[in-house]
Amino acid sequence: MSGAPADPVARAFASDAVGATVHVRGWVQRSRSSGGILFLHLRDRTGTVQVTAKRDVLGAEAFDAAEHVQVEGVVEVEGAVADDPRAPGGRELRARSVKVVDAGLPFPIFQEQTEEFRLDKRHLVIRSDDHVATFRVRAELLRALRTFLDTEEVLEMSPPILTGNPAEGGAEAFTIDYFGRPGYLSQSAQLYLEAMLAPHERVYALTPSFRAEKSRTPRHLTEYQHLEVELAWTDLDGLMAFIERMVVAVTHAVAERRGPELRQLGRKPEELLALAAPFPRLAYAEAVDRLAREGFPLTWGGDLGTAEERALTLESAVPLFVTRYPRELKAFYMRRSPGDPRTVEAADLLAPEGYGEMVGASCRETDLALLQERLRAIGAPLEEYEWYFDLRRHGNVPHAGFGLGIERILRWMLRREHIRETIPFPRTPSRHTP
Ligand code: 4AD
Ligand code: MG
Repeated sequence: MSGAPADPVARAFASDAVGATVHVRGWVQRSRSSGGILFLHLRDRTGTVQVTAKRDVLGAEAFDAAEHVQVEGVVEVEGAVADDPRAPGGRELRARSVKVVDAGLPFPIFQEQTEEFRLDKRHLVIRSDDHVATFRVRAELLRALRTFLDTEEVLEMSPPILTGNPAEGGAEAFTIDYFGRPGYLSQSAQLYLEAMLAPHERVYALTPSFRAEKSRTPRHLTEYQHLEVELAWTDLDGLMAFIERMVVAVTHAVAERRGPELRQLGRKPEELLALAAPFPRLAYAEAVDRLAREGFPLTWGGDLGTAEERALTLESAVPLFVTRYPRELKAFYMRRSPGDPRTVEAADLLAPEGYGEMVGASCRETDLALLQERLRAIGAPLEEYEWYFDLRRHGNVPHAGFGLGIERILRWMLRREHIRETIPFPRTPSRHTP
């Protein structure tokens, strides 16, 4: 029986299912037995259905075996679909047979356990309703991004993760011993995407990025999923327009296809469907003025931290582009603003409702001397970037790109307090297991 195709649990809820015999299999979410009747909630990937099994139908031996199945044990059930207003979803399955696939040991996860314990048992906790909903939305988001990029004729590339130079500056790179030479876990695929740009013009990568940031905040992970796009012949306005189109398209796609999951997590899909371009733009200098008026001790040149970013969009249902940051605050590869050498052609997209930066974007510096000057200023060893300089020597064209943190956008979409709730196995300074 185990190998044979089974019906999805959702089949029990079809309009013509009442009276039909179905054969389902899945995990027991909970069970209770009284007076020779066993109630099981059976979950598969399509839903959950109540199963009722009677001792006099199953026979004593099969009934006893079914009664001993633990939470998250696995059974196969054959039975008839019946209407029952008391059952979740108004249907139940009246079992003719229950076969135990794995009775399981007592499931160690309960409601009132500490967060630390739940993180230790993450491999089991991810079966919870909230996590199931979360990771379905996440899969939908990744799919929507790839679909959008495909329609925009952007090609997926496969950059390396083991690298010989840090893309975002050394301080927050995980260093490794690469057979006696220094190596780094990728912080960003950007430099490789810039190399792939010359023949392909429009490229992207969806890869893990690593940041050795000790900061324990609700929005930092040490390993996160990074979508990065690099576009030839694009300026800052063109880049922001692209990002806007992308964020609106994928947000709508997720809302259309994962409404029930969003609702379960406390986000109304209608709110996401209301998202529309254009998003407001605010120059860094104006952001500083606004924040200073609101009482932040901030002057030109100061970085926008969590609190500042939060204040800028707390009351807003749309994202906000903050543009033209001071160059000292930003990475070496960002292009100097044509009208103002103190700033760079960069934009961070801040999520609505105070959730903070979700995209970092910029035009790339095409002037080799300026690139080298910036690297010297931050004390980076220039020889590690020699291959990157070649890109400025051969077929150098204006180009721009950005990185989107998958967990950052999800944290906003799903209104999660902590970013770790958007990734199955979060990596933070204090944890890299399970
Ligand atoms: O702003 P960042 O550092 O930009 C880059 O790495 C560029 N090279 C990307 C590019 O242009 N190709 O990172 C981009 C995004 C951030 O906006 C944020 O969403 C996410 O990556 N991010 C993190 N997400 C989770 N945990 C962290 N520690 C993150 N650091 C950055
Ligand atoms: Mg950034």
